[in-house]
Amino acid sequence: MSKYVSGFSKFSKSDKINWIADTYFSNSKEAKSILKQYWNTNIELQSLHDEFIENTITNYYLPLGVAPNFLINSKHYTIPMAIEESSVVAAASKAAKFWLERGGFKAEVISTTKIGQVHFMYKGDFKLLKAYFEFIKPQLLTDTKSITKNMERRGGGILDIELIDKTNSLENYYQFHVSFETQDAMGANFINSCLEQFAKTFKENTSNFEGLSSDNLEIVMSILSNYVPNCIVRAEVSCKVSELNEDRNITSEEFANKFLQAISIAEVEPYRAVTHNKGIMNGIDAVILATGNDFRAVEAGVHAYASRQGTYTSLTHATVIDGVFRFWIEIPLALGTVGGLTNLHPLVKLSLELLGNPSAKELMQIVAVAGLAQNFAALRSLTTTGIQQGHMKMHLMNILNQYNANDQEKEMIVEHFKTNVVTHSAVVEAIEKLRQ
Ligand code: MEV
Repeated sequence: MSKYVSGFSKFSKSDKINWIADTYFSNSKEAKSILKQYWNTNIELQSLHDEFIENTITNYYLPLGVAPNFLINSKHYTIPMAIEESSVVAAASKAAKFWLERGGFKAEVISTTKIGQVHFMYKGDFKLLKAYFEFIKPQLLTDTKSITKNMERRGGGILDIELIDKTNSLENYYQFHVSFETQDAMGANFINSCLEQFAKTFKENTSNFEGLSSDNLEIVMSILSNYVPNCIVRAEVSCKVSELNEDRNITSEEFANKFLQAISIAEVEPYRAVTHNKGIMNGIDAVILATGNDFRAVEAGVHAYASRQGTYTSLTHATVIDGVFRFWIEIPLALGTVGGLTNLHPLVKLSLELLGNPSAKELMQIVAVAGLAQNFAALRSLTTTGIQQGHMKMHLMNILNQYNANDQEKEMIVEHFKTNVVTHSAVVEAIEKLRQ
């Protein structure tokens, strides 16, 4: 059967499913039944989800968990996390409790500026281009008034437009580098609309400026940047070294020392830094997803920031000075608590309410804390027990489900592994033995 299809997006949902099931699956009946199993019985709710994207055939579930006991700037939070990796929520909760007993997390937003650019090609004299830019700048702002009106009422808007000569990097390449304040909105639509209007005004008015011709100027694209090194949040924990450790196999000083070594390694060794930061993103992405924000944007921006000095490095740092352990993260986060999915997806609304309907700035702090907590939990395990002990304990249920263990089998095997090391083969062996 041909796998080419024309006009697919115009098919009804059931026709789409039929086509996929019949074209790609040996047991098309079973494939259809799996897809339909995940439909919500509430038709309105299902159609809301269907309309988020094109060609929706079903819903893809991720568990939404919560990590309680976070104390951030003296305020208690239970943090919602949407993630499939077994140990992440448990690790966050453990770190939250650990720091709750040591004064909690401190977080502050350092800056909130976002960036957008109009990229264009210009063949001609830069002085003339610059003069035209100065001439047209007031009109660029006037022509975007209908877009910026509401944002300005909320205290945001366009902060600055700069003309940048990039011809040293690419022949004829120039750009507008525009900075924005978008308050509680992530601002992607706002920024992109402003930029597209700038491009239009800029191109259309060349004939009003002597010496310039629209033939010399080609707009390539207008788009926000997900690199936001001036939209920064910092989160930190600290305590006396003597208060650090609960594990009797290692002293507090030894633990602090190993922890600092682990951070230093991630600061100088990119292979380690990537995994180190991945662990941070376990916490960050989970909250970003639960609160309806764009995790791809955050990921791209955070990793670019981690390489801003020319080598990829750790996002977290730690010191011990005068017997005080200090551990912190500084990251760029462009987040929204209004617009986008935030007032559409019922679970996003619920997650935001769980967090006390935070402003974007407060959410930046919560997310940074989730990343720091996750990194603390990972380094604590890595430098003491090793990661597999906790990880496999959490993964045990996945293995049991893979082997269709019933409730009684699960209970017995979980009991067995309270005192035995969990490995995939040990679990399989235990199931087989039980079933003999
Ligand atoms: C696993 O998802 C994350 C860790 O690898 C992070 C780390 O190594 O720091 C445990």
